[in-house]
Amino acid sequence: MAKTLRIGLIGAGGIAQPHMAAWQKCPDTKVVAITDISKKARQTTAESFDVPPDNLFEDYKQMLKKVELDAVDICTPNAVHKPPAIAAFRAGCHVLVEKPVATSARECEQMIEAGQEADRLLMVAQVMRYGRDAQIMKSWVDAGLVGDIYWARATYLRARGVPAWGSFIDNELSGGGPCYDIGVHVTVSAGTYLEIADKPSMMRHNPKKYTVPEDFAVALIRFANGATISLEASWALNVCSRDYTNLLATGTKGGIQRNPLTLVQEQGGMLTTTTPQITPWDEIEPFEEEIAAFAQAIRTGGPSPVPGEQALITQRILDGVYKSGQKGKEVKV
Ligand SMILES: NC(=O)c1ccc[n+]([C@@H]2O[C@H](COP(=O)([O-])OP(=O)(O)OC[C@H]3O[C@@H](n4cnc5c(N)ncnc54)[C@H](O)[C@@H]3O)[C@@H](O)[C@H]2O)c1
Repeated sequence: MAKTLRIGLIGAGGIAQPHMAAWQKCPDTKVVAITDISKKARQTTAESFDVPPDNLFEDYKQMLKKVELDAVDICTPNAVHKPPAIAAFRAGCHVLVEKPVATSARECEQMIEAGQEADRLLMVAQVMRYGRDAQIMKSWVDAGLVGDIYWARATYLRARGVPAWGSFIDNELSGGGPCYDIGVHVTVSAGTYLEIADKPSMMRHNPKKYTVPEDFAVALIRFANGATISLEASWALNVCSRDYTNLLATGTKGGIQRNPLTLVQEQGGMLTTTTPQITPWDEIEPFEEEIAAFAQAIRTGGPSPVPGEQALITQRILDGVYKSGQKGKEVKV
């Protein structure tokens, strides 16, 4: 029988709940301790998921000192990712950390360095990679059906979707706005706008608490090989759709799109579209897949399924989006 991996949760708020449910289903793992600065959050989460009341902490340093752990799962606000990650590495733990990995590329580099020094895994919880649609799109690309991708477009537009919970609109805790939360050799030409975040949101946010720098960001990211990505993200925008989320990528042979999930190809001189009906991924639950991949990587000695180095590229691009938006011109990343 495999040794049970002992996990410590840091941050027991919204996203920690599906993480905890996934840990419960992951064989030979157990969340044995929880840290949260909120007593209510740590206690209710512990009760829901059967974590011993003696192992609840207000300070992650105490948890790392008192409880023997193999790994930590960090679900705190973005600005509270780096300090517990580095402390956990120094305590000999592997680290799973929510996205975005940090609030700057520099912070992310420090996390990667600490992981390397401790010889422990850093995995960034980019759960959308474990979604059925993402897996299918990747399989099309891997099968060569799209060819060389030269343009992609990632769109996450909310018309009046300013979040009222969590730390998404608090700049001190999140370090950025919608572009940080829902957007990702390179030059970046971006516009960032803070225009209508004070308008009522469907989620009844408090406009006085809106301190992140933008409510809408748009960027053109140009890679060294000439490929480009268009990125658009908003919490609030005067558009007619309530929520418009899509990802499309076009290549020399075909194109893929997430919403609705489609493969576009030229066949017999005609442009055709393929929409999967039943797929081998129908039954998957993304958080369970993500947690299972982390546990498996710990057992087999890596590599990290979503390494910090990949998140660092995203983070550098996002830093570039803000820099370009502030300067009003194209910047090199
Ligand atoms: N993968 C996804 O789909 C997804 C979705 C939502 C949020 N997130 C990410 O997850 C993270 C948390 O977001 P959330 O929505 O769960 O926020 P949340 O506010 O609901 O929960 C965060 C928790 O961290 C606790 N906390 C704050 N500082 C702490 C500290 N120093 N030590 C211990 N606990 C502390 C808070 O008390 C709170 O309970 C963010 O990085 C966010 O971007 C990811």
